[in-house]
Amino acid sequence: MKRFLVVNIACLYVLLLAAGCSGKAEGGAAGINAKGLYFYYCSHCHGEKGNGQGYNAKNLDPSPRDHTDTEEKYMKDKSNEDLFKAVSKGGKAVGKAPLMPVFGNTLSEAEIWALVGYMRTLHANSAPKVTIPAEPEKHERPKPPAVARGYYKTLAEKVTDKDKGAMIAKGEQLFKEKIGCIACHRVGGEGGTVGPFLDRSGFRLQPEYIFRWAKNPQAFLRNTKMPNFGLSDEDALAITLYLGTLKAGPKEAHPAEEILLPREKELLQSGQI
Ligand code: HEC
Ligand code: HEC
Repeated sequence: MKRFLVVNIACLYVLLLAAGCSGKAEGGAAGINAKGLYFYYCSHCHGEKGNGQGYNAKNLDPSPRDHTDTEEKYMKDKSNEDLFKAVSKGGKAVGKAPLMPVFGNTLSEAEIWALVGYMRTLHANSAPKVTIPAEPEKHERPKPPAVARGYYKTLAEKVTDKDKGAMIAKGEQLFKEKIGCIACHRVGGEGGTVGPFLDRSGFRLQPEYIFRWAKNPQAFLRNTKMPNFGLSDEDALAITLYLGTLKAGPKEAHPAEEILLPREKELLQSGQI
């Protein structure tokens, strides 16, 4: 865990470097580095160039969308509003796979518009220019409520032995199919490698810690790549109970791989971030 802490605290400033660069986006874009946002929050899946070939793409089915429209002309026919919705509300909200996460509880509206503007520079299209809203509140990142210490215990105490099995099954379904946590976390040799492997959560992590991560990742690490999914208490509880059952032995657990991209390592080592 320590390693993640160091990495992310060091990353806090990465988005503030380099000005401008939101491609076709215009108006009120001051301070938003859309290219940097894309690199930091999207490139592990979509690739730095947007061709859908990030290092995590091989773990995902369906594959991340190719934002350059090289193989298939797809992006060009989407409206700016369609793209905003997909990024803000996630793949599931637009009839696509939940492996495309929800960013609307994490990034500001202005940042998401800037990302739409940036994606528009990656492929040919006739969409109108993206205008970034000028209202100050649209530039503020959402602030999901903090989860008080001990709150998890009050919820967990109410779960009867009779209900527990069904909740664990629901948690697994949410994790793998409905919310798509598996896009970044590996369990039983399946899933992404953007975040830590979770097959030994039952040994490694306290339930309260899992619950609080699930509800509000930014409260742990302000600039973690894990977005806030806006989970209800009930869903976060079910996921926590499920992860608590994962007790793979060291041999069965998926071996840890490098989680940092070479370029991120370089940035860290050279003290740029
Ligand atoms: C964990 C991997 C992952 C991350 C991170 C991710 N995406 Fe995706 N994205 C996907 C996958 C997988 C799909 C394809 C979903 C499908 O076709 O069912 C997708 C699809 C999309 C689409 C197309 C939606 C549509 O209507 O078909 C857009 C736009 C998009 N992503 C933008 C982004 C942006 C912008 C970011 C960063 C803020 C991002 N994605 C981060 C995995 C990811
Ligand atoms: C876009 C990728 C991504 C998605 C999707 C994602 N996470 Fe994460 N998660 C991370 C990263 C990265 C970390 C490690 C913290 C860091 O370095 O930012 C993390 C950390 C965690 C941790 C702490 C693990 C530890 O070893 O300390 C838990 C628990 C967790 N995530 C649960 C979830 C759950 C539950 C979901 C689904 C609701 C989820 N994650 C979805 C990327 C993701």
